[in-house]
Amino acid sequence: MADIFILGIESSCDETAAAVVRSGEQVVANVVASQFAVHRPYGGVVPELASREHLKAIVPVVRQALVEAQQSYESIDALAVTQGPGLAGSLLVGISYAKALAFALEKPLIAVNHLEGHIHAVLLEERQNGDDRVRFPALALVVSGGHTHLYLAEPSDGTWSYHNIGHTRDDAAGEAFDKVAKLLGLPYPGGPIISWLAKRGNPRAVNFPPAQIKHPQRRPSAAKSDHPGKLGNHLPRFDFSYSGIKTAVLRYIETQQMAESIAERRQRLAELPKPRPEDYLASCDQKTLDLIASFERAMVEDLVGKTLAAAGENDVECLLVTGGVAANNLLRETFDERAAAAGFPVFFPSRPLSTDNAAMIAAAAYPKFLNQRFAAMEFSAEAGMILE
Ligand code: KG4
Ligand code: ZN
Repeated sequence: MADIFILGIESSCDETAAAVVRSGEQVVANVVASQFAVHRPYGGVVPELASREHLKAIVPVVRQALVEAQQSYESIDALAVTQGPGLAGSLLVGISYAKALAFALEKPLIAVNHLEGHIHAVLLEERQNGDDRVRFPALALVVSGGHTHLYLAEPSDGTWSYHNIGHTRDDAAGEAFDKVAKLLGLPYPGGPIISWLAKRGNPRAVNFPPAQIKHPQRRPSAAKSDHPGKLGNHLPRFDFSYSGIKTAVLRYIETQQMAESIAERRQRLAELPKPRPEDYLASCDQKTLDLIASFERAMVEDLVGKTLAAAGENDVECLLVTGGVAANNLLRETFDERAAAAGFPVFFPSRPLSTDNAAMIAAAAYPKFLNQRFAAMEFSAEAGMILE
């Protein structure tokens, strides 16, 4: 079969991204323009600023992806764009541009769910590496700044079927990293700097008990007999909750009287034009580093523990761990260790494909292209889009 080149476009949050993927299995260009610097002074993404930055970046980012892929607007076979979930205004920039381009070029356009994209980041790279160890059904943990979801995923009639068996009841895991960083006077996004600083602290210094969640609809015995092959019937839920740990960190800061040193850190760092990780380290005392390390450990324990519990009850063949938080080293090491002990192979995307990118969108679009599942021209952004 001839090679199919899909141009992917992603603008759901604070990264404007374009990529070209060949036949769902090889990344030929992957361009990501990050808006971190724009949002950093606010400690989180400001939706209106995000839309404005996407507007500025979208044309050059797409052009650069085509140049790097040695493709032209005319030579690509199809376009794919993130429909949701995400920030409505941000999604609309990518969707409007992709629609206009598809219309002008008379190429098919495919709408992709961002969460499905994260799952396909892993599958794409496994194919790219010639690795065929991924078996289905797989249990996918999509863990990012906006999501903490567990899906059973398997190929079905030439495309894919997904069944959600757990999600966060409040904050996403990445959001907890970002909010704790903000509380401590550290920059946005919080995950990378927290994981860098955590290596210098004692992860057992502060005990954060795991969130207790009631599961009224939990029916473990039905799950095993209904699976595999019939995703969706009577499966138990494995939900997460991360607003409690954020409050626990806040309380610790209050009881340990850390507010003054946090204010000093904020001020000191604000005076530096471009602080490096070493500058953040120099501004943290040992108590702060211990708190950071303990927070990271508690997050990782909870994510790994719940995912493995869900794997154990759902007859899955392997685990896929993806999304921005999957870039976290401790999370990867802990999954590698515990999943091996439990008998589950575990797969992650490379770090550049863990965080938001458009290669994952182009890869997820490929089976839809083969099945001619093209978007109608009147489709629009779905900020709260679910994957089911
Ligand atoms: O997938 P992503 O780029 O965007 C969303 O779809 O949300 O994920 C961004 C999130 C942010 O919350 C960021 O703090 C987190 O991923 N993150 C990390 C790490 N790198 C990024 N969290 C923990 N450890 C990291 N190394
Ligand atoms: Zn994402």
